[in-house]
Amino acid sequence: MRVVVLTGAGISAESGVPTFRDADGLWEGHRVEDVATPEGFDLKPSLVHAFYDARRAALADVEPNPAHDALARLEETLGDDLLVVTQNIDDLHERSGSQRVLHMHGELLSALCRGCRSRSPWTDPLADLPPCPRCGVTELRPDVVWFGEIPYEMDRIYAALERCDLFVSVGTSGAVYPAAGFVQAAASYGARTLELNLLPSEGSHLFDETRHGPASRLVPAWVDALVG
Ligand code: APR
Repeated sequence: MRVVVLTGAGISAESGVPTFRDADGLWEGHRVEDVATPEGFDLKPSLVHAFYDARRAALADVEPNPAHDALARLEETLGDDLLVVTQNIDDLHERSGSQRVLHMHGELLSALCRGCRSRSPWTDPLADLPPCPRCGVTELRPDVVWFGEIPYEMDRIYAALERCDLFVSVGTSGAVYPAAGFVQAAASYGARTLELNLLPSEGSHLFDETRHGPASRLVPAWVDALVG
């Protein structure tokens, strides 16, 4: 059986990584337009660097939870028949042991050069304006897909959606496209669809089945039922 799992901020919530849309629409006190658009970066690069530098540093204080662990366990059984597509920019899937993970919205632990467009593994602050390790130009920005930009790996994601038998969405509000449209794409290719989310999401009605509760409980239970 081929499975695609889409994850969102909800899978990392119990690890202590804040979600985006649950509270007041602000991201840790900032307006989305200020910290998650190319225009916001052009206007106030130091603010945007400080925002993502803080989030990168905060990765040191969080750990994967049983939901990440369960997906890593599922990959041990399914191998190439499982693909995890995450909207998250944290590295908690990898730290649980998952290897077949696509970060469609980029990664905190990567820097993107606005000069040569290369992507480099990154752990340090970007606010100090370090040069690009590839071309030497001082044009590094967070390697995060902002509103108005095209997500990564769309070809591979749609190819997997086309082939999968089961599409599972975990901890995402279904508010942001193209990820919000994956359920309809998978269904149109014949996959069964399942939503695992704390609360009903904007797209709940699009799924064959929805289960509500914390990811740390729902995901391990689902994996256990699937592979024992
Ligand atoms: N278990 C399961 N689901 C949870 C949990 C939990 N413990 N806690 C919260 N949730 C659910 C919320 O009910 C909500 O539906 O996770 C979802 C989180 O939604 P968002 O904060 O909107 O996050 P996400 O869907 O990942 O956002 C998508 O939008 O802002 C952009 O690029 C950013 O990748 C992000 C994208």
